[in-house]
Amino acid sequence: GSSSSTPLLAATKAQNPYWYYVNLTGVQVDGKLLAAISAETFDVQRSGGVYLSTRFALTFLVEDAYRVLRQELVSRIQSEGVAPVNVSSGDWDLCFLTEHFANAKVPTIALVFDGADAAMELNVKNYFQDLGHGSTCLTILPSPHGWPGSVLGSLLQAGRTMAYDIHSDGGGTLTFETFETAAGAPAPAKVPLMIMTTLLLWALLY
Ligand SMILES: *[C@@H]1O[C@H](CO)[C@@H](O)[C@H](O)[C@H]1NC(C)=O
Ligand SMILES: *[C@@H]1O[C@H](CO)[C@@H](O)[C@H](O)[C@H]1NC(C)=O
Repeated sequence: GSSSSTPLLAATKAQNPYWYYVNLTGVQVDGKLLAAISAETFDVQRSGGVYLSTRFALTFLVEDAYRVLRQELVSRIQSEGVAPVNVSSGDWDLCFLTEHFANAKVPTIALVFDGADAAMELNVKNYFQDLGHGSTCLTILPSPHGWPGSVLGSLLQAGRTMAYDIHSDGGGTLTFETFETAAGAPAPAKVPLMIMTTLLLWALLY
């Protein structure tokens, strides 16, 4: 398949040197860049940066960006006659009844990274999960207060080959697999419970 790459940023003194920081510059929904999320939103200086984690299943985005993304998803899904529901259990923020959600065209999310054609189009399974109690929830949440920036968790990374070329100065390159799916491709009727294993190819360059 095809692939794209984006620089890995060397951690600043305030960041964890063992995390992989990427330069996320924007978020697209159904191929449209969300203009209310500026390229500086995820900046290290402004909000602590963005790193990839396999320790966290969920993804956490800085509050400003999260609110914009949530609003866009809600308005698009609601336009299909499917309204969000409140779930009493857990810390989920955006849920739908699975039976209704399964019939809706789920908006496609793509993360835009620094680099040529470095848009990572996600599969719906990367950000909506059928919890098995009749509700399907967004697995992207706002970063808790006090957290350093945004975290791209393992669910979001699942099912895609990623290769890290890490330089001794901490910088490097992240190469990720891209898929030929058109923006807005129909979502699978049901989100499988099984979480695909993240394929991580570790390439250490010195
Ligand atoms: C969900 O809870 C909020 C706040 O408690 C309330 O305003 C809203 O009407 C509730 N929505 C539904 C669909 O029950
Ligand atoms: C992140 O990418 C943007 C857009 O390409 C660029 O202007 C900015 O300098 C980059 N930031 C870092 C820390 O490399």
